[in-house]
Amino acid sequence: RTGVITIPVVVHVVYNAAEENIDDQQIMSQLDVLNQDFRAANPDVSKVPDVWTSLVADTEIEFGLATKDPLGGPTNGIIRVKTAQSAFDTDDGVKSSATGGSDPWPTDQYLNMWVCQLGGGLLGYAQFPGGPPQTDGVVILHRAFGTSGTAAAPYNGGRTATHEIGHWLDLFHIWGDDDGACSNDDRVADTPNQADANVGAPDFPHVTCNNGPNGDMFMNYMDYTDDAAMFMFTMGQRERIDACLEGARSSFTV
Ligand code: ARG
Ligand code: ZN
Ligand code: CA
Repeated sequence: RTGVITIPVVVHVVYNAAEENIDDQQIMSQLDVLNQDFRAANPDVSKVPDVWTSLVADTEIEFGLATKDPLGGPTNGIIRVKTAQSAFDTDDGVKSSATGGSDPWPTDQYLNMWVCQLGGGLLGYAQFPGGPPQTDGVVILHRAFGTSGTAAAPYNGGRTATHEIGHWLDLFHIWGDDDGACSNDDRVADTPNQADANVGAPDFPHVTCNNGPNGDMFMNYMDYTDDAAMFMFTMGQRERIDACLEGARSSFTV
């Protein structure tokens, strides 16, 4: 792939309590973060440890609120739906009007982002490429969306969407989801094999799975650290993203 691609985004604000009907500014603040993080233009990229600065990737992906709806008419890319559901979970209920949510726009032309109340301490979840079209996209807790309005520390840096869109573009968790076994990894060569998720804001280095001296790349968006403690994708992750954009999500490159 050569050149920057822009992915059209539709944001479905599905609210029950009035505060969940987040304002346009909060949505814009999330788009701003995505457009920094995926271009390695985030101010905190300067915090990447020296040993890894050469791995920092500009994925050359940008995100823009849709300006045309599926029928070609004008839109601001924001859909607001009032729901009787006080909270949603990972069962995809928020993605269908039949279950109190909002139906997706064609998932081969738009990145659908649903913003709502989620139960169980969940910040968000994503569907990997190749899944059912009717549930494709990412879901983000309103309190972990953007940097203003209802966004709340330590998840008010907009990084939940960065992380979930990473999954949507075929990135796995950096620790390989093997519960500390060190046996499975993220299928990316330039991210160190790491035992388990990191949380909070670890001190560098944090060595696991014999990955010393530099240890875990816990400042990667695909770890579970706080928003303020994650600030990079790698070149190897970009390769997986590019493969996705040449494969399952090639409809976004035309
Ligand atoms: N799916 C993860 C969760 O719900 C998202 C973690 C995002 N991390 C963050 N710092 N925003 O826990
Ligand atoms: Zn995840
Ligand atoms: Ca790796």
